[in-house]
Amino acid sequence: MTPPDLHTPWPAEAIWEQVFPLLPDFTVEILPEIDSTNSELMRRARAGQHEPTLLVAERQSAGRGRMGRVWQSQAGDSLTFSLSLPMSPQDWSGLSLAVGLSLAESLHAEVGLKWPNDLWFQSRKLGGILVEAASMGGRSQVVIGVGLNIRPRPAEGLSTAPAALTELLPQLTAPACLSQVVPPLIRAMLDFEHTGFAPLLSRFEVRDVLKGQRVHTSDGQQGLCLGLTPGGALRLQTDLGVQEIHSAEVSVRPLPKDTSS
Ligand code: BTN
Repeated sequence: MTPPDLHTPWPAEAIWEQVFPLLPDFTVEILPEIDSTNSELMRRARAGQHEPTLLVAERQSAGRGRMGRVWQSQAGDSLTFSLSLPMSPQDWSGLSLAVGLSLAESLHAEVGLKWPNDLWFQSRKLGGILVEAASMGGRSQVVIGVGLNIRPRPAEGLSTAPAALTELLPQLTAPACLSQVVPPLIRAMLDFEHTGFAPLLSRFEVRDVLKGQRVHTSDGQQGLCLGLTPGGALRLQTDLGVQEIHSAEVSVRPLPKDTSS
């Protein structure tokens, strides 16, 4: 395998130029290493810093995933960044789904979405999203953390090795991926503040990898996935009727296909 490309410059200025007309206080920072870009932007938000900020780290020493999991990544083989934005939507539900949709649409037609926060390709995870929020003095700041696998990496204890974006876009580098996804993501977040998730539902459905599949959830439910509600909850047809799962703290997995019939 070729070594990771650690020499392509980061397109900080080009991204800033695209975003500045939308967010005049916007700043871009690229760091060689930090514990976690989400942790750093949450610390800043709690300290009262509300400027819209894109923070990219080449390495994270304590990357965090959803549900208290560790997020592992290798410099050059993955893209890890967080975006901190002051936001006050009327309805927060579906925000992380809107993030996933924007990323998928700006990456490739074959990138799927697995509720609530995973980017998926051919039944394997391609990337994840960790959305956190801080409220200070009546203002809300949202921190959107994104981890994308650019190049293949070993399974490292997982049952299947994760997917990588170079399977779809062979020439892609982490810096090129950053400029491809960040400006559309910021536009999507500004739109979300006004419109919420409902207008995005049909576009999410096109990429929804769970719809029509039998799934089980980490809180013990099983059923056929019917898709999402306009508020972004997952609809499951179970033996007890249609259940709506709202919590992002629940994980959902497809059941193995029944091969007996
Ligand atoms: C998940 O799928 O569990 C979410 C993974 C989110 C990882 C990203 S990498 C950049 C940002 N900083 C972190 O510590 N986590 C997010």
